[in-house]
Amino acid sequence: MSNIPIGVFDSGIGGLTVAGEIMKLLPGENIVYFGDTARVPYGSKSPEAITQFAFEGLKFLLSQDVKLIVIACNTVSATCLEELAASTRVPVLGVIEPGARAAVNATRNHRVGVIGTERTTKSRAYERAINALNESISIYSKACPLFVPLVEEGWLENEAALITAKIYLEPLKGQGIDTLVLACTHYPLLKPAIGQIMGRGVRLVDSAEETAKEVWQILNGGNLLRKANAPASYRYFVSDDPEKFVRVGEKFLKRSIEPISVIEP
Ligand code: DGL
Repeated sequence: MSNIPIGVFDSGIGGLTVAGEIMKLLPGENIVYFGDTARVPYGSKSPEAITQFAFEGLKFLLSQDVKLIVIACNTVSATCLEELAASTRVPVLGVIEPGARAAVNATRNHRVGVIGTERTTKSRAYERAINALNESISIYSKACPLFVPLVEEGWLENEAALITAKIYLEPLKGQGIDTLVLACTHYPLLKPAIGQIMGRGVRLVDSAEETAKEVWQILNGGNLLRKANAPASYRYFVSDDPEKFVRVGEKFLKRSIEPISVIEP
């Protein structure tokens, strides 16, 4: 059981930010990644559609015989994590609580910004999770829907990325926040552009590192850490043409993305 892979699910390429942290912290673990590139973005869709897609992604990963599933997608985590987790015996982990913990640990002035997709922002899931840890924290949220297509296109630091970041983020900057939660899988790839607009006084935090720590805790606690000595293997699945996924993903992960297969979830 301990030698079977961890499953990572996202609507597209952004979940590689979480997979990458798992690879760093748990270099011995095998990973199966599924990015639903045919249907990305989820963030502007209805809760019903997101839930349906998420169950299909979950079913696919379960068919790969995984020992734990990480829902790397904030939109899915904010919409239907409990339902997904209740539907299987395999542990299912989301990214909202780890992200909230990272924000609470980072803020000094208790003014925190949260940026995510429209669905994540509307759900107020981060507000609830942050205030459950510390109710004195004021939270300022903003949906930044154009960040996802920028990342999917690989436009991470060009003029379009900077102008978009400026328009979205300047109002948040005006709120005097000292911490900004990148509450979307894709946004860590835009850190240089976001950091340039927010300035050095604002810490950019995301769920990836904290989520990887939680994966370690669950596997360690359940005696499920991989014991084999052979190097870890990674397999990638997408639901549409993998060209962009491979191009942008390799640049980000700094490793080759193979083998990759196209499936219909
Ligand atoms: N993976 C999504 C998230 O983290 C972003 C992309 C999308 O909208 O599907 O919210």
